[in-house]
Amino acid sequence: MKKILITGGAGFIGSHVVRRFVTNYPQYHIVNLDKLTYAGNLANLTDIEDQPNYSFVKADITDAAEINTLFKQENFDAVIHLAAESHVDRSITDPTAFVMTNVIGTVNLLNAAREHWKGNYGEKRFYHVSTDEVYGALGETGMFTETTGYDPHSPYSASKASSDHFVRAYHDTYGIDVVISNCSNNYGSHHFPEKLIPLAINNIKNNQPVPVYGKGENIRDWLWVEDHARAIDVIFHQAKSGQTYNIGGHNEWKNIDLIHLLCDIMDKKLGRPAGESAKLITFVTDRAGHDLRYAIDSTKLQKELDWVPSLQFEEGLDKTVSWYLENEAWLSDVTSGNYQAYYDKQYEGR
Ligand code: NAD
Ligand code: DAU
Repeated sequence: MKKILITGGAGFIGSHVVRRFVTNYPQYHIVNLDKLTYAGNLANLTDIEDQPNYSFVKADITDAAEINTLFKQENFDAVIHLAAESHVDRSITDPTAFVMTNVIGTVNLLNAAREHWKGNYGEKRFYHVSTDEVYGALGETGMFTETTGYDPHSPYSASKASSDHFVRAYHDTYGIDVVISNCSNNYGSHHFPEKLIPLAINNIKNNQPVPVYGKGENIRDWLWVEDHARAIDVIFHQAKSGQTYNIGGHNEWKNIDLIHLLCDIMDKKLGRPAGESAKLITFVTDRAGHDLRYAIDSTKLQKELDWVPSLQFEEGLDKTVSWYLENEAWLSDVTSGNYQAYYDKQYEGR
């Protein structure tokens, strides 16, 4: 049986990746390693937590000794690395946390792989999950391809760019089998309500102001999170060593247009008069260094590995809103902080 370490599996995207691998690959044992920061929520995985091919380890990737011990004990065949500090606004107020987890944490994992996989690099795989933000900002036209130069602007994207460079350096210098993917903005269930879409859903539901930075003219390219998880699956299994793939939905939206669409969906689902939720839109001070536009060219992934996004945005957003409205307990546990007790209740003493 193959043993795969997935880091950050209690987070938004990580939980979808863990669920997909545990469910679709009973021949693998999935070890989910997560520090359970504010963004980690084991309640994201209640449906699979008792599966025999799943286990959870609470650990911090910035702790090199802890990571080394785990690699020694578990003899992993592969790593899929998602653990990160992920929110741009938090990186503006506390950049150091991003350097620690995203750069040092990634290097700690690479060092453990280098040490424990020595003599066996051809049999192992280190998959690094990264972001399109490493490429910087686009103007009105153009798209990011795999050969676009790195030009990060926020402390978050600078830390992710640095981690990408380290992953490539370990491939080029030591011969470790690595793959990297750079994905655009994800949306879907279990998304922490600090990010635009879940924050707006929660605020609209509670009749609170919906903050739109600047004039709302910034553009993001949105992808259904389960399509991202499927792309990771395909790349993990099929990509050649050292390759990079861009993942995106060809689905660009101005923030203000997206928020209006969301308000329309919420009006219908909450039985409010048309236009009611849009009254909550509040323009606020812009994010510092706010990248104007992201757009991903995923031709390489589509042509080489036959991946295409499965869901239209309008349908995906509708499903996402329904999920949040149907999972009120999840949302209220997250907003009240109750979710942080889940580990103690379910895992302590196991
Ligand atoms: P998230 O913030 O929802 O989850 C991050 C997870 O990492 C959490 O469970 C957290 O507890 C864990 N973690 C944080 N620091 C840790 C540490 N020191 N040790 C161990 N675990 C730690 O993030 P997400 O949105 O799911 O993003 C996952 C990955 O995908 C990140 O690497 C991010 O850069 C990348 N990414 C995200 C998006 C997006 O739209 N959200 C798009 C492209 C790439
Ligand atoms: O592009 C991929 C990236 O997408 C990932 O690497 C990041 O981890 C992920 O957080 C996301 O980054 P963004 O900064 O694009 O996502 P966020 O949801 O924070 O913001 C989306 C857009 O909405 C952005 O232009 C800022 C704006 N915004 C955000 C918030 C939280 C608002 O206008 N108001 C808000 O309250």
